[in-house]
Amino acid sequence: MNLIKEGQFLINVSDQVSEKVISYNDQTYYRFIDWIYSPKPVYFLSPNEVNELCEIRLKHRSRINYCFHESIAMDVFKEADLVKNDCRQLSILDFGCGDGISHSRFLKHFSNDKIFCCDMNKNALRNNPCDKKHLINPCGPLPYESDFFDIIISIFVMHFSIPCQMLSELKRCLKGDGKFVFNIYGRFVAQQHLALKNSGFYLVSSKSASEFEGHLIETWYK
Ligand SMILES: C[S@@+](CC[C@H](N)C(=O)[O-])C[C@H]1O[C@@H](n2cnc3c(N)ncnc32)[C@H](O)[C@@H]1O
Repeated sequence: MNLIKEGQFLINVSDQVSEKVISYNDQTYYRFIDWIYSPKPVYFLSPNEVNELCEIRLKHRSRINYCFHESIAMDVFKEADLVKNDCRQLSILDFGCGDGISHSRFLKHFSNDKIFCCDMNKNALRNNPCDKKHLINPCGPLPYESDFFDIIISIFVMHFSIPCQMLSELKRCLKGDGKFVFNIYGRFVAQQHLALKNSGFYLVSSKSASEFEGHLIETWYK
């Protein structure tokens, strides 16, 4: 494996996917999205470290597995019932929207002009084509009224530890009968579940992704 260091992370610049956990200069590293290695499991990264990691993902965006991303994003859209024509009436938040891959995918399939996007990474947001996008602090607050969104989706975000203040903000902005739908994977799903429950969410559905083993598509209510 050919590794280069970027900040505290390692990039596997060869095309071959290597082991999940490796040792490099006597330190243990954990694989994230096939070609980045993190000195801690990503669930334990601070928001600043998550930002650093997401910058690296953006910088090397040509290496993102877009087929995999599309499949998971479609699973989330379907689980959120966004495939129906009447979804154009709904207010939707894409939390941790990144540079807008999900937003573009969404608009390719469904029309809706009430999609809001937010993220803590300003470089990602700069490239995001959404016209209702907001740069946020990782702990909140969110710049939205209470009980505003019918649906909050989050794609490839909830494997990170989200500060409890932000989880409370997501709950505040969601309508009473609204739902929070996301994909999640990894060894720390139980910890994320506990954090969500402690913030007042409850789990209504957790199913395997249609094509990718180990990934879950979940719906939470408040
Ligand atoms: C792996 S990227 C996924 C981006 C996008 N959803 C996609 O599917 O391509 C994770 C995104 O979540 C954002 N994020 C992680 N924790 C966050 C937090 N506490 N508040 C806001 N954004 C956060 C990161 O900045 C990053 O853009």
